[in-house]
Amino acid sequence: ANDGPVQLTVNGIAYSFDLPRDTKLIYVLRNDLQLNGPKFGCGLGECGACTVLIDGVAARACVTTLKTAENRAVTTLEGLGTRESPHPVQAAFIAAQAAQCGYCLNGMIMTATAFLLRHPAPTLEQVRHALRYNLCRCGTHVEILRAVMSAAE
Ligand code: FES
Repeated sequence: ANDGPVQLTVNGIAYSFDLPRDTKLIYVLRNDLQLNGPKFGCGLGECGACTVLIDGVAARACVTTLKTAENRAVTTLEGLGTRESPHPVQAAFIAAQAAQCGYCLNGMIMTATAFLLRHPAPTLEQVRHALRYNLCRCGTHVEILRAVMSAAE
């Protein structure tokens, strides 16, 4: 249906939003649900800072509409793990100290998580390829790749 509230599940909780279906998902996550894991970077689908999972697949929340996410399961960085019990990819990024400014890390972690779901034992080259469209201006790619490789172990 194209009318009535939009239903979607975010981090395991079912929500209903009375918003236009062309609303971009990132605004709902950050403004309505106060989930600040996904970052607003370019707003054009190019940097990856806003990445979330939709049914386990990486998606850029700044260009994803509510209509696309409707009736599907959205997972944000907050839904991967908790401070007490981080997801293995989160734990690996913390252990590798893979952040400088940290703005790209949400996208790196979410993209890597989606990738590792499908490629549990990747080569470094495959990881590099998987993250090639996630931009990091600080140049911490070496630490990021190391973190993803150690999460895969
Ligand atoms: Fe979504 Fe850059 S903010 S890809």
